[in-house]
Amino acid sequence: MNQHKQLLLKAQCAVEENKDLVRQHARKRQWYHFMPECGWMNDPNGLIYYKGKYHLFYQFYPYGPYWSAMHWGHAVSDDLLSWKHLPVALAPSEPYDDCQKGGVFSGSAVEGEDGRLYLFYTGTIVNEDKVTKSQCLAVSDDGIHFVKYEGNPVVAPTAFVESDPKVWRRGNRWYMIVGGEEDHKGRAILYASQDLKTWERFGTILESDGTLGAMWECPDLFTVDGRDVLVIGPMHLGERKCTYLTGNMDYKKRAFTPFSIGEVDCGFDYYAPQSFEDPKGRRIQFAWANAWDWMPWWKGFGTTAQEGWCGAMSIPREVRVQGDLLRFLPVEELRSLRKNYRDYGPLHLYEWSRMEIEAGDGVHCEILAVLSLQETAAERLIFQVRCADGVQGGNNRCTKLIFDLREGRLTVDRNGADDWSTGRKSCKLRLLSQESLLIHIFMDTVSVELFTDDYTTAFSTNIYPEEACTELYVRAEGGGASFLSFETWGMRRVCR
Ligand code: FRU
Repeated sequence: MNQHKQLLLKAQCAVEENKDLVRQHARKRQWYHFMPECGWMNDPNGLIYYKGKYHLFYQFYPYGPYWSAMHWGHAVSDDLLSWKHLPVALAPSEPYDDCQKGGVFSGSAVEGEDGRLYLFYTGTIVNEDKVTKSQCLAVSDDGIHFVKYEGNPVVAPTAFVESDPKVWRRGNRWYMIVGGEEDHKGRAILYASQDLKTWERFGTILESDGTLGAMWECPDLFTVDGRDVLVIGPMHLGERKCTYLTGNMDYKKRAFTPFSIGEVDCGFDYYAPQSFEDPKGRRIQFAWANAWDWMPWWKGFGTTAQEGWCGAMSIPREVRVQGDLLRFLPVEELRSLRKNYRDYGPLHLYEWSRMEIEAGDGVHCEILAVLSLQETAAERLIFQVRCADGVQGGNNRCTKLIFDLREGRLTVDRNGADDWSTGRKSCKLRLLSQESLLIHIFMDTVSVELFTDDYTTAFSTNIYPEEACTELYVRAEGGGASFLSFETWGMRRVCR
């Protein structure tokens, strides 16, 4: 048995040993957000619809709930929501990817013309702080067992650090985009190939003009609604950590010309999104619902590591274009999880009043409300979620989602969420329509995902309140507030 197979078996044994413990004892497992069975997870990798199933791979460390020697975990689904875990797909095993501080880094998947599944990843080696990254290939006949290509790496290390290959087909060519830096400027670099094995460097399609960060991670380039879109993870750029540029990709000139810029998600916990096109023609995106230590608001990876696991995905979102903006719509499959419907609308809130709302068990739920801007005088509208008085030594708990209608700002304040979370983060509220404001919230055991501004603004955050924190209020300040509709649901459990 070769080295890679042996290391995959070893990794899988660790999963089999630890997953039951997590299942039996963990209290903070999500109900409908994908998580590893145990150990550590970060970026989504290799998203693809292949031979009748959705495949999700992910950055994985099976031996403990912390980042170390990266593997690729693997799961499949029929509906993007309930996932079946498959054996670990890739393990660090070769001179170009076997490293405790490196490993099999992020990448993507394509179906080759021969019907086989091709995975591209960055082999990463760290030697006395010198980082060597190369782009590598692994291939599978059955979509489950992967063999690393004997000609690896398919793109040898360059003078600059390049990583996170995203591969796609266009016309009669394959293309690959990687993120990198040169002269302290983040950049996206394009390669091309006829056979997925020999790659020609086409060069930089876009680089930072000095305002977009020193290094770009996990680039994603795709066309949706006739527009080309480049998504990047610019490092060390303050509030920006997950940015999109809409524009035009000229394959002849090998250049991307941006028209507009925006944030994919302006919350605390959404990074390294990857997208793919599904058989229904939808552009679907997942992201790692967490943050890195280089982000200004970071304080740790949350409290679930105590339970032997760490890391969850966002809900799947469909990406659409509206003018110069992108819209991020929770996929329609999520409706199949709804239960315990409550209809509160139309609903009027008087000035300074606070109304208690029921949404499922108050923890695993969905809220869909449409505020009438015409009939609302309130300066601020505040959703207070996961609240409870006097838990754990008398602490009051609450996470606030604050819609500042006068200033046009959305602020999420998680300072009072639990014993662990801190921070307050804001972004612009566009108030695109003068008539109404849509507010759509998905809550799971340890996460809140908020969509507003006709889905052009998304905000994700993780919080870790006690189970008793189930109260939910809406409050209007500085005037009354009128909702045209106000609906809530509980959510079914599909992940364990
Ligand atoms: C992004 C990232 C990638 C890298 C991976 C390592 O979150 O830093 O650039 O490939 O994580 O786990």
